[in-house]
Amino acid sequence: MARRDPHSYADDTQAETESFHLVGRLDFANRILRAEVTLRFRDLASGTLDLDTRDLAIETIRDDAGRVLPFTLHPAEPIFGSRLEVELSGGTRAISIRYRTSPDASALQWLAPAQTAGGKLPFLFSQCQAIHARSVIPLQDTPRLRVTYTAELTVPKALRVVVAAAAVGSRRTEGELATERYEMPQPIPPYLFAFAVGDLVSQALSPRSAVWAEPSVLAKAAYEFAGVEAMIVAAEKLFGPYDWERFDILTMPPSFPYGGMENPRLTFLTPTLLAGDRSLVGVVAHELAHSWTGNLVTNANAEHFWLNEGFTVFAESRILEATDGPDVAQLDAALGRKELDQALARFATRPALTKLRTHLAGIDPDDAFSQVPYEKGYFFLRALEETIGREAFERWLQSYIAAFRFGAIVTEDFLAHFEAAHPGVLAKVGASRWIDGEGLPADAPVPRSEKLDAVQAAGVAVPDPSLARTWSPVEWQLYLEAGTRPIEVCKQLDATYQLTNSTNYEVLVSWLALALRCGYLDVIPRVEEVLASVGRMKYLRPLYTALRDVDRVRATSVFAANRASYHPIGRQMVAGLLGV
Ligand code: BES
Ligand code: ZN
Repeated sequence: MARRDPHSYADDTQAETESFHLVGRLDFANRILRAEVTLRFRDLASGTLDLDTRDLAIETIRDDAGRVLPFTLHPAEPIFGSRLEVELSGGTRAISIRYRTSPDASALQWLAPAQTAGGKLPFLFSQCQAIHARSVIPLQDTPRLRVTYTAELTVPKALRVVVAAAAVGSRRTEGELATERYEMPQPIPPYLFAFAVGDLVSQALSPRSAVWAEPSVLAKAAYEFAGVEAMIVAAEKLFGPYDWERFDILTMPPSFPYGGMENPRLTFLTPTLLAGDRSLVGVVAHELAHSWTGNLVTNANAEHFWLNEGFTVFAESRILEATDGPDVAQLDAALGRKELDQALARFATRPALTKLRTHLAGIDPDDAFSQVPYEKGYFFLRALEETIGREAFERWLQSYIAAFRFGAIVTEDFLAHFEAAHPGVLAKVGASRWIDGEGLPADAPVPRSEKLDAVQAAGVAVPDPSLARTWSPVEWQLYLEAGTRPIEVCKQLDATYQLTNSTNYEVLVSWLALALRCGYLDVIPRVEEVLASVGRMKYLRPLYTALRDVDRVRATSVFAANRASYHPIGRQMVAGLLGV
C-alpha cells in the first residue's frame, strides 16, 4: 500500500482515475445532490480501489460490464472522511457509483433566498479546496491525480447552473426542470471542480472573459472587473500563453468564505471586492495568476501549498506592476509583510506551521491555512530573484512553468529545477532556512517605495489631511495596521475621516479591528453589521478576535446569531477562535 498524500486514501498501487462523468439532480428542498458518477481509469483495472468520500450515502456501484460490485464504506476518520473500498472484478475500464450527498456536505453551501441579493431564489455553490471535493463526488481526492470531466446537472428551471468548465450545447428544459451540460477538457486536480446554481446572468468583459452575477449585482461587478483583459494580456507576456481558453468570473454571494477561488475558466470572487472604484482587483490578478501557478503547476498535496500560493502572490505582484506600476506592487508587498508578521504571531505556539514545506499528517489543511505560504513564499522567491536578477528570474519562471505544466509537484521538484538552472544560488540565499526553517529569515527582502516611506512617516498619529486625502485604500490599510494608538487618536481619526462609514471592506475591517483593540467601542454596532452581512474569513477572523478580546460574551452571541448564515468552513474557524 502506498498513500502519498497525507489527506487522501488514494493509493499509488491501485487504478488511477483519468476522467469522470457526473450526472446529477439538485434537490433544493432537501439540500441534496442525487447523482451518478462514472470514474474512468487510465488503464484496465482490477483488485481493490480506495476512494475518498465524506458524508456521502452510497447506493450502488457497477462496472462497465454492468456487474454490481461489492464495496465497503468505512467509518469516518477525522480529517479524511470515509474510505470507500471497492472490489473491482478485473479488466475494468470504468465504474459507476450512484450516491447522494449530505445536507451538511463540507464543500456545499445551500443558501436560502434571503441570503442572496435578489431575495427570491435559492443559491448553491461548491468550494472544494483543499479536501472537500470528496463531499460532493466519491473520487481520488488528491491533487497528484489530474482528471478531465463532464458534468450534467439538473435544477429547477428558474435557476442557472455554471460550472468551472466549458458549456456544451444549450440548456434543455423539461417541465419544471432544466439541464445544463459542461465539459472540462484540460486535466485538473479534483479541488478545482466547482459549480454554482442561482439566479445568474452574465455580461461580456472581453472576447474571452465575462462576469456572472445575480441580476441586481451585474452592472456593478462588470464595472469593477472591467480591467480583466488588460491583466490577462500582461500575464501572458510574463508567464506564457493562457491555456484555459476563457477567464470568466462569478460574483459570489456575501457568505463566500474566501476572497477568491481560482476555479479554472470561472474564478469565484467575493462581492466584498465591489468597492466601486476598482481598488480591490488585486484579488482578480491573484486568481488569474493561478492559471499558471497552481492550476498548471499544481502542489502534489497540501504540504507543498506554498508552491501554489507563494508563486501566485509573486505572479500577482508582477501582473499588478505591469498594469498599475511599481508603487502599487511595493505597497501590496508591504501589506503582505504585515499580514505575514501577524500570521507568524498567531502561530507562535505552532511554529512548525510557519515552515514553507509543512508536515500535515493528522492536521486538517483548513486548520493549517494562513498567510505564511503566501507571503513567506513570495519573499523567498523575491530573495531568489534579487540574487540572480530580474530577467534571469523571469526566464527561469517561464521555464519552470513550461517544464511542469499540467503536472503536480513537490518542493523537491522545484528545488531540483532551480538548482539545475542556477547552481549554487539556493545555497547562497540559504533556501533551506526558508523551506524547512520556522519564521522569517532576518535577511528577507524589504518592500520599498516613496509612498511607503510617507505612510510610515505618519506613524500612529492622526495624519494630516493634505497627505491622507491622497491615500489609496492600501495606503490607509498600511497606516491602520501600523499598531494600536490612544483611544483619543481613534476618535479623532473617525471624526476626520469617517472610517466607520467606509464602504471599502479592506479599509473598514482594518479600521474596526484597530478601533476595538484601542478600546474605541463606539464601532461595535458597525462590527456587528459587518459580521451579519459578510462571511469572508479574512474579515471574520480579525473582527471576531478583536471583539472576543474586548467582550467575549458579545462575540459569542453575535456568532450565535449569524452562524447559520456562514459557510461551514467559516463556522468552524470562528467556533475555534471563540472556543465554542
Ligand atoms: N486558492 C485560494 C483560496 C483557498 C486556499 C481556498 C486554500 C481553500 C483553501 C485563493 O487563490 C486565494 O488565495 N484567495 C485569497 C486571495 C488573495 C488575493 C490572497 C483570499 O481568499 O483571500
Ligand atoms: Zn491563491
